Amino acid sequence: MCGIIGCAGRDGETLDVLVHGLSKLEYRGYDSAGVALAGSDLDVCKTAGEIDELRAALEERSPSGSVGIGHTRWSTHGPPTDENAHPHLDCNREVAVVHNGIIENYQELRDELSTAGHEFRSDTDTEVVPHLIEDALADGADPEDAVRQAVARLEGSYAVCVVMSGVDRIFAARNDSPLVLGVDGEARSASESASGDEPRAAYYLASDVPAFRDHTDRVVYLADGEFAVVDADGYRVTTLDGEPVEKTEDTVDWDPEETGKSGYDHFMLKEIHEQPRALRQCFRGRVDELSGTVDLADLGDLSPRGVQLVACGTSYHAAVYAAQLFQQAGIPAQAFLASEYATSPPPIGDALVIGVTQSGETADTLSALREARRRGARTLAVTNTVGSTVARECDHAMYIRAGPEIGVAATKTFSSQIAALNLLSLAITSVGDSREVISGLRDLPGAVQEILDTSTAQEIAETYRDAESYFFIGRGLHYPVALEGALKMKEITYKHAEGFAAGELKHGPLALVTSDTPVFAVVTGDDEQATKTVGNVKEVEARDAPVVAVTDGASDVERYADHVLEVPDTHRRVAAVVANVQLQLVAYHTADMLGRSIDKPRNLAKSVTVE
Ligand code: M6R
Repeated sequence: MCGIIGCAGRDGETLDVLVHGLSKLEYRGYDSAGVALAGSDLDVCKTAGEIDELRAALEERSPSGSVGIGHTRWSTHGPPTDENAHPHLDCNREVAVVHNGIIENYQELRDELSTAGHEFRSDTDTEVVPHLIEDALADGADPEDAVRQAVARLEGSYAVCVVMSGVDRIFAARNDSPLVLGVDGEARSASESASGDEPRAAYYLASDVPAFRDHTDRVVYLADGEFAVVDADGYRVTTLDGEPVEKTEDTVDWDPEETGKSGYDHFMLKEIHEQPRALRQCFRGRVDELSGTVDLADLGDLSPRGVQLVACGTSYHAAVYAAQLFQQAGIPAQAFLASEYATSPPPIGDALVIGVTQSGETADTLSALREARRRGARTLAVTNTVGSTVARECDHAMYIRAGPEIGVAATKTFSSQIAALNLLSLAITSVGDSREVISGLRDLPGAVQEILDTSTAQEIAETYRDAESYFFIGRGLHYPVALEGALKMKEITYKHAEGFAAGELKHGPLALVTSDTPVFAVVTGDDEQATKTVGNVKEVEARDAPVVAVTDGASDVERYADHVLEVPDTHRRVAAVVANVQLQLVAYHTADMLGRSIDKPRNLAKSVTVE
């Protein structure tokens, strides 16, 4: 769960390109970072800490070379120290390797290499790779073959990039960890043609497109089992055994601007504010308001008899929400924590198994989907990331189109997942009020904008910033909002927070409710569900807990609340999104007042590519 970058063809600029790319990948891991540049020599600089620490180290000494690789780490083997930072080297310091993933047989390889006399400098699984390459080179293999031979010995998940002293190429391979090539061959201008100058071409490798999106929008997604050789003249992709593989180039359709902070203090705040646009993008071209229909023709005929959703974290909360939509439309549906799915797999029958994952690279979710496929299920990915592993492995893919999300805390992708799953449920079920739902969806971006313009979440955050513990309650479609409100609060404020189905409080958690535990209650509409939740609010109010009601004012919950976070009157199916935006803002402002590392919370990473 780290970030990798590689660059060839940017002579004189290689180091800057690598460091800039790493800063765009920092969301993938940020406990140490490093670079290696190769030309006639191999030059490495690496350090514990965030990219700024690396920048400071590079001020003392700037490595140079025609090709280079870089890495930002999220520790799996060994603490975040200078020694454990990537790149890792062989004994002779002539081979440098960066790696994302987990090499499962590393201990066995390390024992074998140590017995043969290799000296290890780190605790990492990665370090076996440069030593394996060193052995193959010593046995007479050429550089490319040496890397192939080393990679062939690895079991587990990896995206690796390798450079070597005296070799102006990057070697790369992937299995179960993302790796994408960026292609930047500029067309020759008339004057360049006349002058006979060569057109400039540069090639990049990265765990994710934002790392090189400032330089090119042309990408080639590498698949598991593929091996790439990249230099200033181009790239070549083969299988690990050397069979040529024809690759097609894709174009990414989002702007490099979208990966900057655009004046906001944090990516999280920027991404909260991007929600209206993200939602419009999600709906574009998919909804016909007049006929009350949703067109997802590119998914083909899904017509499932049942639905199983697998997901983790925030995406799981979107899955819990969606399972209710399918059930309400008469399709048996259940949401599973992806990490638990394989332990007691439910009968598949004729179910469609839907993986909900922003990144498309979450190992737990991929593993659950693979298990479902192994048992004969059809699979659908609902993801934000075109070309991601989940999109390539599933039978169908639906994109939520939220644009890149950099903050570790998921915000706009949750809203867009809910929007996309609403569309999906309308497309594959028949609900009587589809016109009303569609008009609710059409109004959703405006309702979210209204909250962004008027929210008093900052005042609530100020009032309760010193609380030790926060509770969130909701019922029905608001239950996943309560779970999500609590997850957001805990991950960026580092305070205890829990979300409950409102009716569950009295079955135990009520014992924890005191005048020091603010309770956020999500109540919209005035139906029976709302009335019952108001009853639960009375229960906590009677125990002196401060109550913050997130409400559209349709019920009388305000009478029992100390504070109100207003949400516009919306269709009940989209009320979850607007209510959640208020809770995102409360968590954001609380964390900001507490001085937390909002975009990169401690111990977390954006893309969790280990199980
Ligand atoms: O990329 P995914 O949606 O599969 O990620 C799953 C979770 O790791 C993720 O939703 C996580 O819970 C959020 N970043 C929390 O804000």
